[in-house]
Amino acid sequence: MSSSTHASKPHLSYFFCLLSLLSLLSGVQSDELQILLKLKSALQESNTTVFNTWISTNGVCKFTGITCNSEGLVTEIELSNQNLTGTLPLDAICQLQSLEKLSFGFNFLHGLIAADLNNCVKLWYLDLGNNFFTGEVPDISSLTGLQYLHLNNSGFSGTFPWKSLWNMKGLIRFSLGDNPLNPSPLPSEVVQLTKLDWLYVSNCGIQGTIPAGIGNLRELINLELADNNMTGEIPEEIGNLVNLWQLELYNNSFRGKLPVGLRNLTKLENFDASMNYLEGDLSELRFSTNLVSLQLYENNFTGQVPPEFGEFKKLVNLSLYTNGLTGPLPQKLGSWAKFYFIDASENFLSGPIPPDMCKQGTMKKLLLLENNLTGEIPANYANCSTLTRFRVSDNSLSGTVPAGIWGLPNVNIIDIGSNNLEGTITSDINNAKSLWQLYVGNNRLGGELPTEISGATSLQSIELNDNQFSGNIPSSIGDLKQLNTLRIRNNKFSGSIPETLGSCFSLTDIDMANNSLSGEIPSSLGSKSHLKSLDLSHNQLSGEIPKSFSSLHLSHLDLSYNKLTGPVPPSLSNGSFAGNPGLCGNSSALPPC
Ligand SMILES: *[C@@H]1O[C@H](CO)[C@@H](O)[C@H](O)[C@H]1NC(C)=O
Ligand SMILES: *[C@@H]1O[C@H](CO)[C@@H](O)[C@H](O)[C@H]1NC(C)=O
Ligand SMILES: *[C@@H]1O[C@H](CO)[C@@H](O)[C@H](O)[C@H]1NC(C)=O
Ligand SMILES: *[C@@H]1O[C@H](CO)[C@@H](O)[C@H](O)[C@H]1NC(C)=O
Ligand SMILES: *[C@@H]1O[C@H](CO)[C@@H](O)[C@H](O)[C@H]1NC(C)=O
Ligand SMILES: *[C@@H]1O[C@H](CO)[C@@H](O)[C@H](O)[C@H]1NC(C)=O
Ligand SMILES: *[C@@H]1O[C@H](CO)[C@@H](O)[C@H](O)[C@H]1NC(C)=O
Ligand SMILES: *[C@@H]1O[C@H](CO)[C@@H](O)[C@H](O)[C@H]1NC(C)=O
Ligand SMILES: *[C@@H]1O[C@H](CO)[C@@H](O)[C@H](O)[C@H]1NC(C)=O
Ligand SMILES: *[C@@H]1O[C@H](CO)[C@@H](O)[C@H](O)[C@H]1NC(C)=O
Ligand SMILES: *[C@@H]1O[C@H](CO)[C@@H](O)[C@H](O)[C@H]1NC(C)=O
Ligand SMILES: *[C@@H]1O[C@H](CO)[C@@H](O)[C@H](O)[C@H]1NC(C)=O
Repeated sequence: MSSSTHASKPHLSYFFCLLSLLSLLSGVQSDELQILLKLKSALQESNTTVFNTWISTNGVCKFTGITCNSEGLVTEIELSNQNLTGTLPLDAICQLQSLEKLSFGFNFLHGLIAADLNNCVKLWYLDLGNNFFTGEVPDISSLTGLQYLHLNNSGFSGTFPWKSLWNMKGLIRFSLGDNPLNPSPLPSEVVQLTKLDWLYVSNCGIQGTIPAGIGNLRELINLELADNNMTGEIPEEIGNLVNLWQLELYNNSFRGKLPVGLRNLTKLENFDASMNYLEGDLSELRFSTNLVSLQLYENNFTGQVPPEFGEFKKLVNLSLYTNGLTGPLPQKLGSWAKFYFIDASENFLSGPIPPDMCKQGTMKKLLLLENNLTGEIPANYANCSTLTRFRVSDNSLSGTVPAGIWGLPNVNIIDIGSNNLEGTITSDINNAKSLWQLYVGNNRLGGELPTEISGATSLQSIELNDNQFSGNIPSSIGDLKQLNTLRIRNNKFSGSIPETLGSCFSLTDIDMANNSLSGEIPSSLGSKSHLKSLDLSHNQLSGEIPKSFSSLHLSHLDLSYNKLTGPVPPSLSNGSFAGNPGLCGNSSALPPC
């Protein structure tokens, strides 16, 4: 008996205890339901289907985006990228006692972030990035368990509570970039976060130098400090960050040389230090054999491009423009991987164009303007059907332009001006369906302009000036409906100006000066209401200036040194007409009619 009463007592108390625990729990659960319904109603304007499951009868753990623990308590709210609009009721949300993860990235949320966020003390994951919040990020010192903190690109301004980071020793990812914060140095709180593998603080008002303590962050795989106002040299301690995969330093005011130690970053794939005042040579990058993308444009680098770059097996993007680099480009450059672009314009590079950058058939852009490159255009590029830009103007290239270049099917710009190139523009140009701009001026090109140029139907601009082109201007040119600029000055074109030019509706600029054009000026040109500049000087044009010209509104007109006769329409009288003894008119420079 006694044993049974003895046994029933604890049983009963256990039962009551369980009962009260259960009712307590269900009380908590109904509180949690109320909290989530409050969240739903705060965001009710959102154009989203995510709340369709958020109805009381489902139980909170079945709500889309909600994760519960084994006790049925909410641990995670994952509502990123759901088109949410409204303000976050953090006062309510942070009453969820077991909440560990709060993810609202990539929405349209606005308003202030309340200091109530501090009540979410169990959070290890917080994503408020990519929204439209206003005001400051509040002090979040109590969120000491955070491992992931994304606040980037979300409209935060004012002073960031850097001190809050002091106790977040476990922080692994920190993204604060792209917020209009008050200027601040990169504080010591950051460089003691030794677990960090991701530090994104680009474009958020960071100024001053990179602290030497950066070398503490040995786990970093991504360090982004771009688009700030940082100064000083890149510290040698960067060399400690041997796990770095990406280093973004562009658009600051860094000075000095690339630090010794960069060579130790053997995992580095993306390095961008463009738009700074860096100097010295690139030899410290000789060992960065895993580079995929290297961008160092607009600096003050000198010396040669290291020959080792030619052996980099993964390199696909290389941008070195506007520096003081000399010597040749490595000839095997870009031949190993699916190369995408090179831009080494505005340097003092010499030697030939590396021939194999399109070897894998993927190259988009070849930009080597304003150097001192010599040799021929490598024939391989004539097969590079992926090319959209082929720009090698202002060099010392010679030889014949490979015919296929003219017909590259995706090329938008062919810019080979100001070299010593020879040969003709071939009928291949019929295939250049994407060509907008053809710049070949100031070379030794010659022969006739092929009739097939009309196949390049996207052409907007043709510049053939200062060459030795001869023969007629093909009348098919009238088919180029997008053409706005035609400059063929200083060539040997003969025959008459095709009447069809009048069908190029978009023409604004025609320069045919100093050729051997004869016959009459086509009256169709007078109908070109967009025409702003017309230079037909130094030809053999004869007949009268078409009456239709009186309706033109030109800012530049030069018809001098031809054989024109008759009256100059009064509206044109401030143009240049010298060297046409047969012209008359009522301006001081012309004899009266
Ligand atoms: C809401 O989203 C749907 C597709 O999800 C879209 O078709 C509709 O235009 C959106 N409405 C508004 C007001 O943005
Ligand atoms: C968000 O809105 C866009 C455009 O209205 C729509 O295409 C997209 O499907 C929506 N996304 C969600 C998760 O509702
Ligand atoms: C920006 O924040 C989003 C989350 O909102 C995150 O996925 C992304 O990685 C962050 N960007 C960077 C560069 O850190
Ligand atoms: C450079 O960064 C500043 C912010 O520090 C930004 O305003 C500017 O647009 C950036 N310049 C370029 C060319 O991206
Ligand atoms: C950059 O920082 C310097 C001080 O180091 C300051 O004088 C300058 O105004 C800052 N520039 C910008 C764009 O913030
Ligand atoms: C590069 O790493 C090696 C081996 O870890 C080390 O001895 C050397 O001091 C490092 N060099 C620099 C410049 O940091
Ligand atoms: C580049 O270096 C030259 C010579 O050292 C110097 O005259 C020039 O001002 C520097 N330019 C920049 C942008 O730092
Ligand atoms: C190379 O550059 C292009 C154009 O900027 C970019 O779209 C592409 O992602 C880059 N590739 C790599 C591997 O960085
Ligand atoms: C270009 O190279 C030629 C021949 O190598 C040389 O004579 C000339 O001085 C160089 N020009 C420039 C601007 O470096
Ligand atoms: C271009 O491709 C064609 C056909 O694939 C091939 O016969 C020719 O040798 C190639 N030419 C060059 C210069 O690579
Ligand atoms: C006319 O063009 C020829 C080349 O065809 C050139 O040699 C000559 O200097 C040019 N004359 C003028 C006045 O520009
Ligand atoms: C002629 O003069 C007018 C008014 O002074 C000016 O707007 C126009 O650009 C000039 N045209 C030429 C061809 O010089």
